[in-house]
Amino acid sequence: MRVLVAGGTGLVGSAIIDQLLRLSQGHELRCLTRRPARPSPWGPAVSLVGGDVRDLDSLRAALADTECVVHCVQFPNHPIESPRRGLTYEAIDGQGTVNLVAACRGTPVRRIVYLSGAGVRPGRAEPWFRAKWRAEEAIRASGLEYVILRPSWIYGPRDRSLNRFVAFVRHLPVVPVLGSGRNRVQPVFVQDVGLIGARAVDTPAATHQVIEVGGPEVLTMDQIIRTVQRVLGRRQPLVHVPAPLLKRLAAPLALLPAPPLTPAAIDFLLMEELVDPGPAQAIFGLEFRSLEAGLRTYLRAS
Ligand SMILES: NC(=O)c1ccc[n+]([C@@H]2O[C@H](COP(=O)([O-])OP(=O)(O)OC[C@H]3O[C@@H](n4cnc5c(N)ncnc54)[C@H](OP(=O)(O)O)[C@@H]3O)[C@@H](O)[C@H]2O)c1
Repeated sequence: MRVLVAGGTGLVGSAIIDQLLRLSQGHELRCLTRRPARPSPWGPAVSLVGGDVRDLDSLRAALADTECVVHCVQFPNHPIESPRRGLTYEAIDGQGTVNLVAACRGTPVRRIVYLSGAGVRPGRAEPWFRAKWRAEEAIRASGLEYVILRPSWIYGPRDRSLNRFVAFVRHLPVVPVLGSGRNRVQPVFVQDVGLIGARAVDTPAATHQVIEVGGPEVLTMDQIIRTVQRVLGRRQPLVHVPAPLLKRLAAPLALLPAPPLTPAAIDFLLMEELVDPGPAQAIFGLEFRSLEAGLRTYLRAS
């Protein structure tokens, strides 16, 4: 198949392309990006194609010779929205996906794999859930074969979230933790998500399924940081910063054109959405790695 990975330069999309290349299923691979003039990170094996989910014409052109789209687009600096610059869940996840689905009409596209998120369901008030639900509904109504993946928190060598704690553990005498540290998360290693995304392209049992994706352990944020410390051979105290205090401090920042933090982003970071990894393991034939096993593939004690 001719496969286009939209958002293929990002954390998840690049892991999916890496695994598509590794599996060598014979697909012809392309990556949709807003900056196609730069060199492809995969060399001639994956060509870069220009396109923006806010621009229907660019999508139609990019999809003209595509049979399967893997959609992993997310706005820069998420989860911090910047409405003034049009960088919101609604504009990119919501309307962007509606545009992508509309652009598939009249092209050879027959299958779409979409990276949604854990906990997405109707009736949720948070902007990320509303936008992702809208996106999922557009995909379900598209008439295309679809696979909807709902991952929990994804970590890996290039992530922008757990790596903050890695830097804190390496360089600070104490580790600041947002909130009580008791909120539960199910971290999943990016390579495992990449393998699932790659297999979703041509696994018939996944067609028309909504599949949760998450690591094998439910861990509190404190347990996650203790695991990072164990892997790095460090042990400093954790200092918990109360979420209401931080939200009060962040409230005025939300008025800036490019806010460094917002109260909504703090809610996003603290949400607890647990998933059942069993069906994904059965459908795609893999075992999710524990956090410690995932971290040990790219972190070493120094
Ligand atoms: N990271 C997580 O923990 C996590 C958890 C659950 C679900 N997800 C979902 O997984 C998907 C991918 O997330 P990610 O963490 O990999 O994001 P990411 O690293 O920020 O990558 C997002 C990609 O989207 C592309 N992009 C941004 N704006 C675009 C636009 N207007 N039009 C076209 N492409 C655009 C960017 O490519 P260019 O800069 O090259 O254009 C970028 O490579 C998202 O749907 C996200 O909600 C992620």
